[in-house]
Amino acid sequence: MDSLLIKGGVRLDGEVSVSGAKNACLPMFAAALLTSEKCVLKNVPDLSDVRFMADILSALGAVVSNPSKGVWEIEAREISAFAPYELVRKMRASICLLGPLSARLKKAEVSLPGGCVIGARPVDLHIKGMRALGCSVEIERGYICVDARKMRGGQVYLGGRFGSTVTGTANVLMAAVVSPGNTLIENAACEPEIADLCKMLVKMGAIIDGIGSPTLSISGVPRLGGVEHSVLPDRIEAGTWIAAAAASRGRVLVKGAQKRTLGSFLDILERAGCPFEIRSANSIYVDASNIKLRPVEAVTLPYPGFPTDLQAQLCALMTLADGISIITERIYPERFMHVPELARMGAQISREGPSAIIAGKTKLSGAPVMASDLRASAALVIAALAAKGETLIQRIYHLDRGYDNIDSKLKALGAKVERLKA
Ligand code: EPU
Repeated sequence: MDSLLIKGGVRLDGEVSVSGAKNACLPMFAAALLTSEKCVLKNVPDLSDVRFMADILSALGAVVSNPSKGVWEIEAREISAFAPYELVRKMRASICLLGPLSARLKKAEVSLPGGCVIGARPVDLHIKGMRALGCSVEIERGYICVDARKMRGGQVYLGGRFGSTVTGTANVLMAAVVSPGNTLIENAACEPEIADLCKMLVKMGAIIDGIGSPTLSISGVPRLGGVEHSVLPDRIEAGTWIAAAAASRGRVLVKGAQKRTLGSFLDILERAGCPFEIRSANSIYVDASNIKLRPVEAVTLPYPGFPTDLQAQLCALMTLADGISIITERIYPERFMHVPELARMGAQISREGPSAIIAGKTKLSGAPVMASDLRASAALVIAALAAKGETLIQRIYHLDRGYDNIDSKLKALGAKVERLKA
């Protein structure tokens, strides 16, 4: 497994371009199974998770190709309804196959994904949604088995104790667009990635009202056609670059950072005293050369609240703020694997239930650390950039799952970084 060696204390300087959103394009790959016509996705990030999804679709029988950088073509003429454990366990997003397979083939057998380091990831809401559409759903031998022969429109409230569900909304939506009759999804996830999936489905012929809101009304159509769609920029990657620029006291233009999708994070940065400028609808400039970070209180919430996928990165940044920050995780209360690793770099963070209490300001020092999941790894990169000395981040395959060419982008910004091959 590769490692990343980062020599800290160098200010990031220059421009970085954000790639397409991982969490939009993974369900979009699944949506391509809804039609036998060709679907072309553009601005697809170069990630191991994307290649995994392509492998899964190929294993199901679709013809998948990557003719040029960022472009993927999927043609699902004949596909099977069985998504085995060996494939699904590698990537939780493959749960998004459930809705499209059920809709297209009137049956689906999708393995339950299994354990996850960021905490419990139940699928009860996905099942509730499919049942609301008239499907019969059973768990057998570790598989979610759907009989969708009686699938039709229905009404479902998709909220649980942690709020709405992103991939659950994607599943029910993708099934509903081709189910006869009308469907109403209440407490649908409002994440921009779901709105972008809706836009792709509409281009394929779907009828969806309320895109981007918690109430989605869908009128089922008999079939969908092919599509060409460009994936929206990754707001989490954008937020990660902004945090990295701030931590390194750098000056960085983040191209593809959209104010529209980053509102809650930008509000926190403002409170933290991190100077940034909205340069256009599509770019944000951070000048942190004279930054004096203030501590903040922040709580992760479903969109438009502060995203859980930026919580670890904010924790790393707040180790550099002068005072006590409290960061509370309301989506995945156990998602704090970055805390002990940041502590190895000198951070003073204690856990109180779902909150991390961060006492700054810390002079971080480089250390060998272990990446445990995607966003925890991003937090370690941010801390490493700010730290004195060298940090060796091991097991960076987690980073490669979700950050397109992170080491080249860091290098282009002047960071002293080296990928050590396993
Ligand atoms: N939940 C339930 N029941 C369900 C589904 C979810 O109780 O049936 C709970 C979860 O346990 C959690 C909350 O609802 O507490 C939200 O989970 P959600 O279903 O929205 O998460 P997800 O769809 O599995 C997506 C992203 C995650 C991101 C979360 C939250 C994709 C492929 N994954 O996961 O992304 O953290 O939404 O925004 O879209 C990442 O990119 O690093 C990542 C983990």
